Parts: sequence; structure tokens; C-alpha cells
Amino acid sequence: REEKLNYIMGKIRPFNDFPSKGVLFRDICPLMKDHKALCATIDLFEEYVKQTYPMVDFIVGLDARGFLFGPLLAQRLGVGFVLVRKKGKLPGPTESVSYTLEYGQAEVEVQADAVEKGQRVLLIDDLIATGGSLHAACELMKKCGAEVLGCLVLIELKGLKGVERQGSTPVFSLFQY
Ligand code: PRP
Ligand code: HPA
Repeated sequence: REEKLNYIMGKIRPFNDFPSKGVLFRDICPLMKDHKALCATIDLFEEYVKQTYPMVDFIVGLDARGFLFGPLLAQRLGVGFVLVRKKGKLPGPTESVSYTLEYGQAEVEVQADAVEKGQRVLLIDDLIATGGSLHAACELMKKCGAEVLGCLVLIELKGLKGVERQGSTPVFSLFQY
């Protein structure tokens, strides 16, 4: 496990001043490009989920980078994948939840028939910063009647208190910066 974590960590590249001045951006593109790192990432999520949540109905991924890891993990677990998208991308009846960003509002959306009442879901994204996106996605899944077991992220930016924002919903992260 330590060896895998170290290998993956070497494939997360920091960029200063992106997308704006003062921000240290964690770039996962080198990880995605590397077969061993990508496999190891999914291995670690799979191991955690199998140990912690024996009963999961769906992996729910956040637009856009939750889509990179969610389907791979869902396949390993033998379950399906549900897409939480930014507003206006999904056809048919939808449910949505809006939330506040640093500048302005955002809205996440899911198809109204994506989950049935009582189905157990785990949410996944690449990174938690302020936690606003994951919190809105959790609220959205609850609005649809799902039972939110927890959240999975590759990277937690600890200074921004995003995990605290999730209240009693557990957040598992592979790396904390
Ligand atoms: C990033 C990241 C998370 C979110 C984390 O996505 O992939 O989804 O921000 O921030 P938060 O914890 O403060 O909500 P972004 O909104 O940049 O969209 P993208 O995945 O489409 O690039
Ligand atoms: N890296 C990638 N995505 C992000 C970051 C970051 O540092 N902060 C907010 N979204």
C-alpha cells in the first residue's frame, strides 16, 4: 500500500498560479497517462470500499474529473456508475441542487430516475477543496432518495476544510496536502 501511494504521489504534478495567481494546482494528467499509477489508484479505492462498504449499489461520479475514476472503480466492484453533471447537460427529467461558489452560483444535476429510494451510493471525485461540489452532490443524491454512504477523493486540500463541510458523511482521501 505504501509503495503504491508513493508511486501515485510521484505522478501528481503541482503547478503554481493556475488557474489564477496564488493557487497551487494539483495536476493528475501524469497519473492518468501512467498505466501503473492509474491501476494502483483504483486498487486502493477498491480495497478501501470492499473493506468498508460491503453493500454498494452505485458509484456516483462528479463532472468532470470524477468521471475519470468512477467508472473504473465501479467495474472493479461489479456495480454501475451514475453521472452527476453540471447543469444543462442531461436529457429528460432531472433533479438539481444549486450551491455557492467563490464567485456566483453553480448547479449540479442528475437524471430523476438515476437511483431508486434507499439505494446505497458512494460519491467520487478527483479532489476536495472547499467541499462545495461534493456537498451539493450529496444533497442531490439524498433528494433522489439515495442513502449516501460516503465520499471518495484522490486528493484532499486540508486547509480549505472541505471534509468538515460534509458533516457526518465520511470522506476517504488517498492524499492530503
Ligand atoms: C474541481 C474538482 C472538484 C471541485 C473541488 O472541479 O475536480 O470537482 O473543483 O472544489 P470544491 O471542493 O471547492 O467544490 P471544477 O469545478 O474545476 O470542474 P472540472 O472537473 O469540470 O474541471
Ligand atoms: N487541483 C485540481 N483541481 C482543483 C484544485 C487543485 O489544486 N483546486 C480546486 N480544484
